[in-house]
Amino acid sequence: MGTVVPFAPWNFMLDVDGVNYSLAEQEAFARRRPGTDIVNLSSGINALRPPSVLVDTVVGCARDPLFWHDYDGPEGHLVGRAAIAAHETVRGGGGVRLDPSQVVVTAGASAALALASRGLHQWGLRVSDRPAALVPVPTFPLAGAALTDAGFTVEEVASGTPGRWLPTVAELIEAATPETTVVYVNTFNNPTGERYEEDELRSLVRWARDHDVHLLHDTVSSDVSASGDLPYLPGIAAEEGHLPGLVTVSSLSKSRAVPGFRIGWLIADAPLVGELARINELAAPSSPGIAAPALLFDRMVMIAVEASEGRCPADAPSRARELLADSLSGYRRAIPGIDEVTTAVSKALEDEDVVERLKQWRTDLRSTLSDNIDMLRAEADDLVTGFPDWRGDFNTFVDIPALAGHGYLDTCHRIFREFGLQTLPAPAFGRDEPWWRRRGPYRMRLSFALPTPTWSAGLRRLRRAVEELGR
Ligand SMILES: Cc1ncc(COP(=O)(O)O)c(C=O)c1O
Repeated sequence: MGTVVPFAPWNFMLDVDGVNYSLAEQEAFARRRPGTDIVNLSSGINALRPPSVLVDTVVGCARDPLFWHDYDGPEGHLVGRAAIAAHETVRGGGGVRLDPSQVVVTAGASAALALASRGLHQWGLRVSDRPAALVPVPTFPLAGAALTDAGFTVEEVASGTPGRWLPTVAELIEAATPETTVVYVNTFNNPTGERYEEDELRSLVRWARDHDVHLLHDTVSSDVSASGDLPYLPGIAAEEGHLPGLVTVSSLSKSRAVPGFRIGWLIADAPLVGELARINELAAPSSPGIAAPALLFDRMVMIAVEASEGRCPADAPSRARELLADSLSGYRRAIPGIDEVTTAVSKALEDEDVVERLKQWRTDLRSTLSDNIDMLRAEADDLVTGFPDWRGDFNTFVDIPALAGHGYLDTCHRIFREFGLQTLPAPAFGRDEPWWRRRGPYRMRLSFALPTPTWSAGLRRLRRAVEELGR
């Protein structure tokens, strides 16, 4: 096992991917089974097609040299930062007031997590010689790896409470030490699809405020929520006087099915963003060229979508437009052409057809997720068990009783090589294989943001694999 970053779940995942994502292995499978497509239930992506209205607008805007003719700086393009700040301010409904100085545009949430971890470690050194981070597990392994790589001592906190994977806030607080300076919160938690309710988040925020702890909030899959009304952590943090202690990382990868675009962002207090920008200069003196038009379009039009679904006041789109214009107004001479692009994209906010298309795309995504989870319950409940209630995400975490006692790495490589099915087993999400063996039968994450026929084919193939390997 490689240990370049000494965080076991991360290394386990790399070992899985070393086979299951190897192009040579994929090619070899295609040679062995001509005509059988590999089915990916593993990578936690949204494998549906992205909204064409987003892709078309981004491609059109990206022809403008405004977005690629120069380095735009380690904070990322002002247009993208302004759009994110306007979006969050309007979503926050009065309690949250952001401006571009609190935003960094990044190449995906992964880059944002790596950057935040480095900055928060430097910050933590002001409080402790050995800053520690609490990571509720099971969760997305890159978070613990990024924190470890930055120098944190990472404490993986598992729940002892029956009926849930995500540790309660009381369990998290119990695990904290005087060295704890960061807690990672993932909404929805990947792989279990769980999330904290508003009262739990409020008590976490209060504790963090009183102990000078930053909350590192990962919202990459928040927007796909079935109901759309998740508790809004920045609003809670603002009410409790701890907004400066919140660092949010996010991206369009999952919520709009465009992981290859690498469009992410980080929101934090302005002094921390200033430090992060200095760190970021080394790796990212510019943000991805299409990030600014994509964020301008997506963040602004989503406000109109939210307003049309009743989750924002009716005047939210015009407020967002005003905030955007305010943020950019001081830079007309420094960034020639800024007015034309933002005016063109802002018009999309008023275009009912554009708003409707994005809204419909998200409605369709939610109904596909709902159909797919229904199918899992109806057709596979003898094959997979023990998965958490569905709360709106597209990852779930299942037991496979027939594979009890099987080695995790070897089995998942066999499922790939022999059956063409990519899956990701439990040790990728926390602790190590012996720990998972003590917790019960073979467990894996299944990602189900797939067209329903592909999901159905994946479940059938999983059944075949389990029947043969479980003999
Ligand atoms: C919880 C979580 N955060 C962040 C990421 C990284 O996403 P990206 O770097 O594509 O924005 C993922 C990807 O699986 C994830 O599941």
